[in-house]
Amino acid sequence: MDDIKRASLLKELYIYKSLGYEYFKDITVLMKNTEQFLNLPDDWEELKRMVLNCRLCQLSKTRKNVVFGEGDIHAKVMFIGEGPGATEDETGRPFVGRAGQLLTKIIENVLELKREQVYIANIVKCRPPNNRVPLPQEVRMCKPFLLKQIELISPKIIVALGSTSYRHLTGDNKTPISKIRGEILDFNGIKLIPTFHPSFLLRNPSAKKDVYQDMLKVKAML
Ligand code: URA
Repeated sequence: MDDIKRASLLKELYIYKSLGYEYFKDITVLMKNTEQFLNLPDDWEELKRMVLNCRLCQLSKTRKNVVFGEGDIHAKVMFIGEGPGATEDETGRPFVGRAGQLLTKIIENVLELKREQVYIANIVKCRPPNNRVPLPQEVRMCKPFLLKQIELISPKIIVALGSTSYRHLTGDNKTPISKIRGEILDFNGIKLIPTFHPSFLLRNPSAKKDVYQDMLKVKAML
């Protein structure tokens, strides 16, 4: 964003503030089409800089680190989770806690890929307090960054980990993840396969066999 745009935005924000809007409401009202508004760069490092400095939602107030995502930016497979947890917030890296260790095992043992060969990201890039589900307005602010990452990486397959990821990627708020998992869907020309979140697997180990089947499908499509 250039200085003129930034100044005119600030001016507009002050007007909203003088009308009694609060910090968070202002931004939501203004940003009907966040992606267009943000004018996101095609340059990966520039995008990353922008994301690391993001203050568009209230999660930026409580985060320790922004979790941009990590892996091969030319990856064929992209895993998308819900949002950073405590360990991810501490380290600035996605899926490095207990659920992350399980995800890494799945990638290595079933897909027979190194973790560095895939790309791992989340629906929101800052930790929701107490690991609550990200709020719709937080997702609305953050999702354009993820969509830009998907556009730049252009993976062959997206694995949506859990219902939050599935819902926000597809807009389907109704179908339970248990019904839709393993289906091969279309996401703007990219194959999207929903599966259970690794945290769910930690609580329900019997569901591991389902994820195993889903990952075999991913492997066959690579
Ligand atoms: N759970 C997620 O959804 N993402 C992470 O990065 C870690 C745990």
